[in-house]
Amino acid sequence: MSNDILVHAEAGVTTITFNRVDKKNSLTAAMYAQLADALAAADADPAQRAVVLQGHETIFSAGNDIGDFLNAPPSGEGAPVFRFLRGIASFSKPLLASVCGPAVGVGTTLLFHCDLVVAGDNAAFSMPFVNLGLVPEAASSLLVPQMMGYHRAAEALLLGEPFMAEAAQEVGLVNRVVPPSEANRLAQAMVAKLAAKPLASLVATKKLLKQGQSAQVLARMDEEGALFRRMLGEPAAREAFGAFMERRKPDFSKL
Ligand code: COA
Repeated sequence: MSNDILVHAEAGVTTITFNRVDKKNSLTAAMYAQLADALAAADADPAQRAVVLQGHETIFSAGNDIGDFLNAPPSGEGAPVFRFLRGIASFSKPLLASVCGPAVGVGTTLLFHCDLVVAGDNAAFSMPFVNLGLVPEAASSLLVPQMMGYHRAAEALLLGEPFMAEAAQEVGLVNRVVPPSEANRLAQAMVAKLAAKPLASLVATKKLLKQGQSAQVLARMDEEGALFRRMLGEPAAREAFGAFMERRKPDFSKL
């Protein structure tokens, strides 16, 4: 197994680290499978009380590996990416994230399923699905407007431009903004407080906080996933991925 995902369990806390920094922590199918397995294991293990997802001080994640999109696109609902997305949506214990640097695509949309988010002041969030000829995923088409309001959601999802840590805190996506060198430490301090609390109460409170909309979230993920899979093979996405690989601007003028 590769070291692209590191999983460390200590004192009731599972820390999952994206560790593919040379490729900006972009996520391959194999990494999604490891992430889904690690989440399922932490949820099932009564000794584990919370999970932290983190990246590197300079990069959280550049989103899905674009080479994977081209060569081995997710073929059905059982694909590792969808298993991971359902895993974060239905994770029953506290889920925290520490985000520094760019958080692109799923690097941002996964945060809408976290309970607490710490950001370095270099964090840059973006959901450029339209720019890639795709549609939002991870139920972000439902959760982003709920959190940010329609017009800010439309700006984030239609224009797809990055917004910084301060703006993310203003809309409620981020709890605390700190220097990048302090983000992971702060997330560990927060999760240690949670791990000291009664687990049954944490789990029940999280369930109440999610306002019983988990069926709606999973249904939206399926709806988005079907569209996403179809659009991956269409000309706009092929042009966007080809342009990224060739380091040129995409040309959508005929699409
Ligand atoms: N998939 C595959 N490889 C990726 C990647 C991705 N999503 N993002 C970055 N990489 C690779 C680059 O190809 C490059 O590889 P190389 O060194 O072998 O040439 C390496 O990571 C460094 O990336 P680079 O673009 O040079 O870094 P940067 O610091 O200039 O920019 C980002 C960082 C994250 C802003 C930029 O890489 C980016 O926009 N990535 C694509 C994001 C994206 O569209 N993701 C899909 C979302 S659904």
